[in-house]
Amino acid sequence: MQLHAAVSEAPSNPSRSDRRWVRHALELLEAEAGRSGWTPLLPFRVKGLEGVDLYLKDESLHPTGSLKHRLARSLFMHGLCNGDIRRGTTIIEASSGSTAVSEAYFAQILDLPFVAVLPRATSPEKIALIRRFGGGVHVVDDPTEVVGTAQGLAEGGDGYFMDQFTYASQATDWRRDNIASELFGQMSRERHPIPDWVVVGAGTGGTSTCIARHARYQGIGSNIAVVDPEGSAFYEGWRRKDTGFVTCTPSRIEGIGRTRVEPSFVPNLIDEMIQVADGASVAAMRWASDLLGRRVGPSTGTNLWGALQLAVRMSASSRQGSIVTLICDTGDRYASTYYDDDWVTGRGIDPAPWVKTLDRFRLGGAPAAPAA
Ligand SMILES: Cc1ncc(COP(=O)(O)O)c(C=O)c1O
Repeated sequence: MQLHAAVSEAPSNPSRSDRRWVRHALELLEAEAGRSGWTPLLPFRVKGLEGVDLYLKDESLHPTGSLKHRLARSLFMHGLCNGDIRRGTTIIEASSGSTAVSEAYFAQILDLPFVAVLPRATSPEKIALIRRFGGGVHVVDDPTEVVGTAQGLAEGGDGYFMDQFTYASQATDWRRDNIASELFGQMSRERHPIPDWVVVGAGTGGTSTCIARHARYQGIGSNIAVVDPEGSAFYEGWRRKDTGFVTCTPSRIEGIGRTRVEPSFVPNLIDEMIQVADGASVAAMRWASDLLGRRVGPSTGTNLWGALQLAVRMSASSRQGSIVTLICDTGDRYASTYYDDDWVTGRGIDPAPWVKTLDRFRLGGAPAAPAA
């Protein structure tokens, strides 16, 4: 009798149409994933580091210009399958900009309202992109307040706080179809197919967590190094094994470095952390942009500085091998900030002392031949 009642009620159950909408939304996201495809892995051989092959996985080539494209899609899928995102749900996110650009793009695909809570220092180019994808922008003066403000807006207005910092490591499937499976797969025919190091920065920590978990899952012996800008909590949290560690010095390298150890960062999984001076990040960003013939963002400079340090260390101990790092985003979105000398000086960042070190390294010759 009860079963009969349940069955006969089902067609008029409003959750049915909700479920249909969710299914349709997931199909739209899967279709987008199919269109977006893999990002290229570029050899970046540098004179002075013979024997160590450096590679850049170019995440700037996603449709929304950064590695956050993958995360944004995963966060929407996570929210949809958890029943948190429904037809008409307003999505709210705390971001330093890149995640918000990507989420605005996906919100537009799903026809959902979107509001980004951003620190005032966020580059105007990113804000323009969020608006171009139909998103709203809420700017806060104190960068440590973006999460609390986003949470408050969601609770006060019946929206859904996406919360990349908590959910990045849960929403991303670290077993398959992710940045790590692509990267290790692309390396498989190279001269040194198992990277000695994979070097990434941490904003949520999700990218490092995904790559490290995937390497363990697949039995790949690569070490994971995380580069961290001045004043960020990740380095000290890792060194002291204290996930409650906090600082009061907001990062000056957009996208990476946090004042607390975010829940998606898993210190146990990280083999080495490298603190990188902000001047070195900016110097390496410009150096790489010159060599590549196109602009990359400041966190890519941080990655390269760390990768070069590890490469020099390998070279000095006559160790041959490979290192992979990421082009995290395009430099076009920093034309009026990190590529503007006055802006950089005004932030108290001085790249000059680091330029000489980088001048030692120039682009190398042809891609290495495969091992005989
Ligand atoms: C622009 C940008 N955002 C975020 C991150 C960090 O990624 P995650 O949030 O996965 O730690 C990076 C990494 O280098 C980055 O360059």
